[in-house]
Amino acid sequence: MKQVRKAIIPVAGFGTRLLPISKSIPKEMVPVVDRPLIQHVVEEAMAAGINEIILVTRSGKSAIEDHFDAHAELEDSLAKKGKDALLETLAAIAPANLKITSVRQPNAQGLGHAVFCAAHLLGQDEPFAVILPDVLVKPQTESTTCDLGDMVLRWNSSSAAQIMVEAVPQEEVYRYGIVDCGGSEPQAGESADMLGVVEKPKPEEAPSRLSVIGRYVLPYRVMELLSDQPPGAGNEIQLTDAIDRLMQEGKTVQAFRMNGRTFDCGHIEGWLKANTILAREAGYDV
Ligand code: G1P
Repeated sequence: MKQVRKAIIPVAGFGTRLLPISKSIPKEMVPVVDRPLIQHVVEEAMAAGINEIILVTRSGKSAIEDHFDAHAELEDSLAKKGKDALLETLAAIAPANLKITSVRQPNAQGLGHAVFCAAHLLGQDEPFAVILPDVLVKPQTESTTCDLGDMVLRWNSSSAAQIMVEAVPQEEVYRYGIVDCGGSEPQAGESADMLGVVEKPKPEEAPSRLSVIGRYVLPYRVMELLSDQPPGAGNEIQLTDAIDRLMQEGKTVQAFRMNGRTFDCGHIEGWLKANTILAREAGYDV
């Protein structure tokens, strides 16, 4: 069975909910405590055993790729001044085994379209993870395991696609992909078979209150389905719709209920909250 080695991270969005911060810096580069949001997300992938990252990007967002490049002039200057701690901080951004590739999304046609832009960078029948970088997923405590890592392990042992979910209030279901587990709900850290998934349903039509968070482990077949996926909610090509078709084909797709905590950094209040809570946890006196 093919193991998950690559994560696709769509970063081509405008970040309108973070304006004016995100006018000339990519929203993925806003700081969360002591490093840019994207660095937290890449660290999450690496904690899950994934060190090949595919960024789906666009013009005006090259600061994201630059962040993971070596910076010879800066490193040389720090070395001459004996600033070893800072050199280590820089080295930790991109460990030797981390591979970052980027691919362009020429025009915004939805999440499914963004993910499909990376299809040719996967091997034959290669499974992949998708990580949406607006939302940080952090363990509850230092001792709990990485949720994405648990999803990868489940894929590796069962070949069942894994979709991370958490419960949201009924009145907020219209903002998310909502999963149908046929009335049964997985416990935190567990997976349950899904019957379907619907993108941004009306509250009265939602099959549950379990929302898709933005962490997926998927078989290559999803790319083939995306290749002819018609537009769905919001007239966009939806990853959710391709995953729903995967189930209609009889493939096992499971909802993995998050064990950790989410911080939605895609809007100002969530981003401020992430900084406040995580800065205190990191020992900053704020
Ligand atoms: C996307 C997905 C949706 C998911 C959400 C999580 O929606 O399409 O299924 O629940 O991310 O943040 P978007 O936020 O891009 O509208």
